[in-house]
Order: sequence, then C-alpha cells, then structure tokens
Amino acid sequence: MSFTPGAMTVGIEPQLFVIFGGTGDLSRRKLLPALFRLLESRQFEDTVEVLAVGTGPLSDEEFGDRVAKALAEDGLDSATDWCRRSVHYHSLREGFESLANRVEELEAASQLPGNRTFYLAIPPAVFDDTVESLGKVGLASGPGWSRVVVEKPFGTDSASAHQLNSLLHRWFDEGQIYRIDHYLGKESVQNLLALRFANPLFESSWNRDRIDSVQITVAEDIGIGTRAGYYERAGAIRDIVQNHALQILTLVAMEPPVRLDPEAIRDEKVKVLRSIFPVDTSQVVRGQYHAGTVDGVDVAGYRQEPKVNPDSVTETFVALQFMIDNWRWKDVPFLVRAGKRLPGRVTEISVVFKQPPVALFEVHGSCHMHPNVFDIRLQPAEGFELAFEMKVPGEGYDLNTQRLEFRYAAEFGELPGAYVTLLADVMTGDQTLFVRGDEVEEAWRIITPALDLGEEPDPYSAGSWGPAAADALLARTGRKWQEPRLSRTASS
Ligand code: BG6
Repeated sequence: MSFTPGAMTVGIEPQLFVIFGGTGDLSRRKLLPALFRLLESRQFEDTVEVLAVGTGPLSDEEFGDRVAKALAEDGLDSATDWCRRSVHYHSLREGFESLANRVEELEAASQLPGNRTFYLAIPPAVFDDTVESLGKVGLASGPGWSRVVVEKPFGTDSASAHQLNSLLHRWFDEGQIYRIDHYLGKESVQNLLALRFANPLFESSWNRDRIDSVQITVAEDIGIGTRAGYYERAGAIRDIVQNHALQILTLVAMEPPVRLDPEAIRDEKVKVLRSIFPVDTSQVVRGQYHAGTVDGVDVAGYRQEPKVNPDSVTETFVALQFMIDNWRWKDVPFLVRAGKRLPGRVTEISVVFKQPPVALFEVHGSCHMHPNVFDIRLQPAEGFELAFEMKVPGEGYDLNTQRLEFRYAAEFGELPGAYVTLLADVMTGDQTLFVRGDEVEEAWRIITPALDLGEEPDPYSAGSWGPAAADALLARTGRKWQEPRLSRTASS
C-alpha cells in the first residue's frame, strides 16, 4: 500500500528476490513471513522466487525446511509448500561469480524475465563489499530491472552516509535504490498525509498562528535485549531520532505536495529537513536507564545488560528540540523524545494548539483551561484523539476537557504489517515510502551536533518517563510533555 493512487492494483512483476543476510534475524522475523503473507494474499506465489544468501553451507532443502518450520511457528502453516518450492539458498563461500551463475540458473529454471530485487539485510561492516561485488559481477544491471533495498542504519554520521550514497550510485541509479525506514510502512504514518491534506479543517490551523508546539514520543518498554553489539554504537539518537522520528516530523511539517507521486512527496519532505537548524546541544537531554520496574517486572539497568560496557555512556533515552526555519513553523518547537525501558510502548504525535488570546473563563471560576491537543496515535491502538474544553453543566463556568476519538481497529480491523506494505512497494517499483539519498544526508546533518557527546547520560529508572532533565527542557519555556494514555495499548 502506498501514497500513490492505484499502486495496489499494479501487479507484482515476476522476479527473483535475493536476500543477503538470508539466515539472519531480520530475514527470519520480518522478511520471509511478510513475503509469504504478501505473495499468498495476492496469489503471486508462483511469480516470485526467493534466494536467501548466507555464509553457511546449507542445501535448498535444509533451508526451505528451516524456513517452513519458522513460519509455522508464526501460524503460517500454509507456507510449507511455498518454502520447499520457491525458497532457495546460496552460500557466499563460493564467491559472487558463483552467485551470479546461480541467479541465472534459477531465472532460467523458473522462466523469470531477469527482474531482480537485492535486499541487503546485512551488518554495516560487509555492506560496502557486497554492493561493490554485486556491481562487479554485473548483477546491478540485468536483462530486466534490478533494485536494491537497503536496511538501516544508513551510515553512522553525515560523512559515512554520503560515502554509502556514492558507493550505491556507482552501481545503481537513485530510481533503483530503496532505503527502508519501516515506520513509513505503518498505515498510521501514511495516514498523516490524508489526515492533513484531505481535511482542510485541520490544515487551515496547521501553522505557527495556531500551533504552540508539536511533540513526538517514540517510547518502548523493552530494553536492548541481545542487541548490545549494535546499540552500544548507535544509542537512541542514531537508532530512532535520525530516521523514524525525523520521518514522522517531516510528514507533520511538510507543505502539500503538487501531486501524490514519489518525487513530489519526497521533494516536500526534503524541503522541511533543509529548513531545520542543526540541533542546539543546549536543547538535548540524553539519558540512560538504571534498574527499575516495567509493568510490574524488575529489570536490570543498561550497564548490566549482556555485552554492554559497564562504563557505557551510550544514551538509551533522548529528548531534544528541533526548530524549523520556514514561514509555516518559525518559532514553533518540535519536541522529540525517544527511549527504551519507558513505561510502555507508544508512538504518538501531540499537536498542542495555542490558548485563546484572552483567558475569559479563568476569571469566572476556579477552572484552569487546557489547550486543545490533537493526539495522533501511530501505535498501538492506532487512531487519534482531539481534546477540547467544554462547560460543565450547572452554575458558573467550570470547564472540563473531553476527547473526540477515532480508532482504526474499530472501523477497519487489523492493519497490515509495515514490511508487507514496503515489500509490495519494492516489488511494484513504488519509491514513495522509501528514503531518498538527499533526505538521509539532511537528517544526519541536523542531528550531527548531538552525536558522540561522550558525556555521562542522565540516569533514569527503568519504567519512568526518562530523566528529570527532560521535563526541565520543556519547563524552561513553560511547556510540559503530554503524557500518552497507556491504557490505550491494545489495538482497539
Ligand atoms: C528499530 C530500532 O528501527 O525500530 C529498534 O532499531 C526499535 O531499536 C524498533 O525497537 C521499533 O520499531 P517498532 O515498529 O516496534 O516501533
């Protein structure tokens, strides 16, 4: 599914779908289940052959059985035939020439026209070699089209992202490159454009005249699990803010695109990013969780997690302010916070409107007026709530806050998974939901000052909303964080 009208109806062209990192965690947990769900739902199981590439010695049968078992554990028992018939395996031990031969053999055997998708679900350390080798053995251009899908992290800073772009562009045109940010595949994130540009009611107030501030919260209750190797070097700024949070921010802040096509939309997103000042480090709070209790369970602190340096200064929480230097948003702070081991899993945008210019009601009663707040819940319990003030029936003018509410689940049932959506778009050649090269470099530019500060992060207890300094950051300007309603955690 995508922003582009009609994209759903474009068929998935026959192709070979090659997964580098085919035996890895992402492939097992997300890609293979999403591929099967997608192909089955569109009855395209016979149009696409899958070739998983790894380093271990496995036969097609062994790998197919392994995938069938894993998918059955996810409740996808019907995938067994597909796994045995259409999922293949190739070991890179024999080099890229042998891979190129295998690709041709499979295409010939299945009468595929030479359309190829290369999905790079591999660690950054082997990324350069893989792209270079793909190019050198001629796989970047084939008898049909070739596309390359790149997982995050896309570089670790501006310079490395630029280098990666140059490397990719040596072998692939921008039109062949699909940089994944899985948040863009979420239905609730795609809906931001519809919400804004199909509803003049909101759009006419969507500016510095009416909006006081915008808050974006990406909270997770989980810790870092077994991902210390990656997370120690990433931290919350690289892991969430550079990609997911800034993507959400651009969709909230962008101007209407001239058309609903990939380039028009991505042009507007890049314009927002270009208007954002590099982050001011006096407006950044970094935190790290200590032992605490999440959902009634005692959990360890970050430094006690397996394979984490006991003196680590990696941030597991960050709160920061972005300022957009354009006509629509001048002086409206965009306040972002993201963290692990917070009280719950919730991603939410709170658009806080300005108070009326005259405090008419406060002089009449003991009441305190609250601003109108439009909470857009991206997950879970996707939907939105609009908080407004009303008079409490009876004498005087006591005010009370009420909420208008919409939930996807109540109207539309279960939403499709982000990877199903994104894979469908890769296979149909729709780049709208993928991050363009200039976009990713702009995002790095903005957050560069906040990277690798090397300072001790502020401690916070697991299960809390982060360090006190995050509240102080907003209190300086008389604001406070909107607390997401965690009781809203189910999808209904
Ligand atoms: C990933 C991050 O990109 O997003 C993880 O690397 C994070 O650290 C995950 O847990 C969150 O994704 P979601 O879809 O569960 O919000």
